[in-house]
Amino acid sequence: MKKNLILSTVLVSVLMVSSCGSKEETKCAGVDNETIQTIMQRKSVRAFTDQAIPAEYMEAMLKAAMAAPTGSNIQPWHFVVLTDKSQYERVFENNFNMRIFNSAAAVVVFCADTTVTRPPRNNPDGAPVTRPNGTWRDDMGACTENFLLAAESLGLGAVWTAAYPYSERYASMKRELDMPDSVLPYCAVAVGYPANDEQPKDKWKPERIHFDQW
Ligand SMILES: Cc1cc2nc3c(=O)[nH]c(=O)nc-3n(C[C@H](O)[C@H](O)[C@H](O)COP(=O)(O)O)c2cc1C
Repeated sequence: MKKNLILSTVLVSVLMVSSCGSKEETKCAGVDNETIQTIMQRKSVRAFTDQAIPAEYMEAMLKAAMAAPTGSNIQPWHFVVLTDKSQYERVFENNFNMRIFNSAAAVVVFCADTTVTRPPRNNPDGAPVTRPNGTWRDDMGACTENFLLAAESLGLGAVWTAAYPYSERYASMKRELDMPDSVLPYCAVAVGYPANDEQPKDKWKPERIHFDQW
C-alpha cells in the first residue's frame, strides 16, 4: 500500500514537470516519437489556401480513417468527398460553417450506416438479420480523429464540424447526397493547406489523472 502511494506520487511528479503539451513546447519530455508529435501538433484549421490536395494524400487520409478500431469490427463508415463548391449551398443548407467549407480544398462528409446486417449471433448459418449498430458514433469518432491526424502529418490542415446529432445540419446533407435510409451524416471535415499559422492549444491537465482511485 505504502509502496503504491510512493509510486503514484513519483508518477504524478513526473507528469507535473513534464513539458508535454505546454504552450512553448509540444514535445513530451524524454519521448521523441513522431506519432505523438503529430497528435500534439494537430489543431483545427478553418482557413485555407487555394492549393488542391494531391489525390494520393486524400487516399492516405481516408485509409488512415478506415484503419480506426470499431465495435465488433463493423466498420460502419462511408465517405462523400466534395470539391465542387457549387453544390455547397444545397448540401450545407443554413450551416454556419459555410465560410470554412468554401475556403477548403475539399469537404469530406463522414457517413455512418447505423444498422448492421449479419447472421444471427446464435446461428451463424441463419439468414442475415438487420439490427441497430450500438457503437456507430464511437466508431465514427475514432475514424474522424485518424483522418485529422493523417492530415496534420501530411502538412494539411482540417477541422471537424458536427453533423449528427443536429438534424438542422445533417438533414440537407442526407437529402442532397442521396444517402440510403439507414445512413446518417456524422460530421463534415474541411481540409486543405492552412492559410494561417495556427498553433495547437495547450490542453495538458495533469490534475485530471487519477491513479488507482479518484
Ligand atoms: C464533435 C465536434 C464538433 C465540432 N464542431 C465544430 C463546428 O461545427 N465548427 C467548428 O468550427 N469547429 C468544430 N469543432 C472543432 C472544435 O471547435 C475544436 O476541436 C476545439 O475548439 C478544440 O480546438 P482544436 O481542435 O484546435 O484542438 C468540433 C469538434 C468536435 C470534436
